[in-house]
Amino acid sequence: MSAVNIAVLVSGGGTNLQALLDSQRVGTLKSGRITLVVSNNADAYALRRAEAAGVAAKAIVRAVFPSQEAFEDALLDALDEAGAELVILAGFLSILSRRFTERYPRRILNIHPSLIPSFCGKGFYGLRVHEAALAYGVKVTGATVHFVNEVPDGGEILLQKAVDVLPGDTPETLQRRVMEQAEWILLPQAAELVSQNIMKEKETNDRSS
Ligand code: GAR
Repeated sequence: MSAVNIAVLVSGGGTNLQALLDSQRVGTLKSGRITLVVSNNADAYALRRAEAAGVAAKAIVRAVFPSQEAFEDALLDALDEAGAELVILAGFLSILSRRFTERYPRRILNIHPSLIPSFCGKGFYGLRVHEAALAYGVKVTGATVHFVNEVPDGGEILLQKAVDVLPGDTPETLQRRVMEQAEWILLPQAAELVSQNIMKEKETNDRSS
C-alpha cells in the first residue's frame, strides 16, 4: 500500500516543515510522503525549503482573493489536485473556517508552541505565545500537536511535550528551546502516527470492499 499523501501548509521560516522533510529523508516518517507545500505568504522561506527538497511548492495569498471563502476554496482545490489525505499546519498562521476543517475531519494536524489549554486560541501565535508565557511567569511550557477543528487550537490533543522556562529567558530563547526540545520532535512523530492509522484504515476498507 502506498504512503499517505501529505500536504503541509506554512506561513514563515518553515523549521517545522524542515523537521518533517528531514524525518522523511532519514526514514522515521515512512508511512506518509510530503507531496505539496502551500504558503499563504509568497515570501516564506519555507517555500525555498520545499523546493530544495524537491517537493512541489506554491503560494496562495489571502489578499489576492475577495473573501476568506474564496481563499479557502483555492487552498482546497490545491489539496484536491495533489490528492492530499493528511494536511499538516506547520506554522500556518491563518485561522481556517469550519467549512474548511469539516472537509478533513481528524485529517488536519497543527503544532502549537505551548501546552494547550495554556496560551492558545485567537491571537496566540509564534513569538506572542512565548511572550505571554514569560509575562505570566510559568516555569514550564512546551508544545502540542492536535487535530484541527473549527475552534482555534481547540481540537483533540494528540501529543504534548513539556519544556522548562529558564531564568533570563527572552521570548526568542524560549521559542528556540521549545522548537528544539519539543516541536521538531513531536510533529514528525505525530505525522508518522496519523499516517500509520490512515494506512490501517485504508487496508481495512480495501479488505471489506
Ligand atoms: C512555530 O513555533 C509554530 O509552533 C508556531 O509558529 C512557529 C512557526 O515556525 N505556530 C503557531 O503559533 C500556531 N498557532 P516555523 O515556520 O519555523 O515552523
